[in-house]
Amino acid sequence: MENDATLTIGENAYALNIIEGTESEKAVDISSLRKQSKFITFDDGYGNTGSCESSVTFIDGDKGILRYRGFDIADLATSSNFLETSYLVIYGELPSANELDLFKERVYKFAKLPDEVISAIHAQPKNSHPMGVLAAGLQSLGGAYPHYCTNDRKADLDCFDESAALIISTVRTIAATRHRFLLNEGVPESNPTASYCQNFLSMMFGNDSSSEDIPASVINALDLIFLLHADHEQNCSTSTCRMIASGGANPFASLAGGVSALWGPLHGGANMAVIKMLNQIHDAGDDGSRFIESAKQGKTRLMGFGHRVYRNYDPRAKILKSACDDALEALGVSSPILEIARRLEEEALKDPYFVERKLYPNVDFYSGIILQALGFPTDMFTVLFAIGRTPGWLAHWKEIAETGKKIHRPRQIYQGSPLRPYSALEKR
Ligand code: ACO
Repeated sequence: MENDATLTIGENAYALNIIEGTESEKAVDISSLRKQSKFITFDDGYGNTGSCESSVTFIDGDKGILRYRGFDIADLATSSNFLETSYLVIYGELPSANELDLFKERVYKFAKLPDEVISAIHAQPKNSHPMGVLAAGLQSLGGAYPHYCTNDRKADLDCFDESAALIISTVRTIAATRHRFLLNEGVPESNPTASYCQNFLSMMFGNDSSSEDIPASVINALDLIFLLHADHEQNCSTSTCRMIASGGANPFASLAGGVSALWGPLHGGANMAVIKMLNQIHDAGDDGSRFIESAKQGKTRLMGFGHRVYRNYDPRAKILKSACDDALEALGVSSPILEIARRLEEEALKDPYFVERKLYPNVDFYSGIILQALGFPTDMFTVLFAIGRTPGWLAHWKEIAETGKKIHRPRQIYQGSPLRPYSALEKR
């Protein structure tokens, strides 16, 4: 829509365009504002700012809707699997049988890491966090495949099919290599007849490449967690990845940045924080009510609750809540912290503090409980989020590489010291 908005500042009126998305989301396009008025807009934390037009994921946070490429998350969770959904997220369409076979073949081809990447993973300080190792591992991987990692957009796009499959395949191998190295163990070879998650579980916990003894329910639960994390539009880590890509950096560097951004406890690190919180509540003999009170007083946060975009139940949390019950039953695991989680959710959903602020469980509230039951160490939970988010980061890298014209470069309002003279050291 041309010039359909007017911004009045003092006595001056500025005509601005309105942009409308395919789901009727509307934005005032302020890209001409600074030129017209010398004003910029200010939006600390970007809660009201659209940073791009994108065709990957649609979220309606008020209604609790999440769609990848137009497909509802609940339909994908029921009918698809992680690799098919990865293809959809990256390429925009569900694959034909032939396209899916080719994609899987590429992913399987790359399951093994080059020796120099294995050495780089082994060389990380022993107390490095698995997220730090994953970021370093991705950067090393780029070094091992320099022709996929040129920082020349056209060249990087030309080999994107290969580099995307390489990254999707090896994020799990990097994670498993680090885990097994700390146990003084090697990673079993992947089995070409086993599924992506079956192979990953065998790399993590198996003795050889035979992964037949892993129950289907365990494999499916992990696959579902990955699928539900595959993309989530312009969140902190994806925006970071896009920002890096906007400068022309290759996919390996862009995704390593995404991994670092995901690490924080307010973002991907929340799944670890939820388990720590539930264990603390359990160890303190609290039924959850004391913790809820301290969250209401602002002394702590109920981790796994609240979301910048969802002001309703996170649709992924709904799916994971029932998957959590199924997985724990299939594994024959009884989890006292699951009981605490259920009670916290029940109490919070009827407490005016949480109701008024529209704080609902997010995807991290139940995912950690499943991952713990599957046997993953707590400090690897965020790595599992990163493995799931890999196709989304790749899709956004591709979108920027294909359509992005400008380097991303926000402005600021400077609130520092005015100009002052430099004083020599001895005079300070
Ligand atoms: N527990 C208690 N109070 C909360 C919580 C929470 N989990 N989340 C928000 N609030 C309160 C805030 O204290 C604030 O209260 P006030 O208005 O009285 O000051 C109000 O709700 C709004 O909070 P904001 O921080 O402004 O909300 P924002 O949209 O910026 O934050 C966030 C979203 C970071 C996810 C926040 O809800 C949070 O910290 N949640 C816990 C961490 C978490 O689960 N993160 C995972 C997010 S999902 C993901 O990244 C995959």
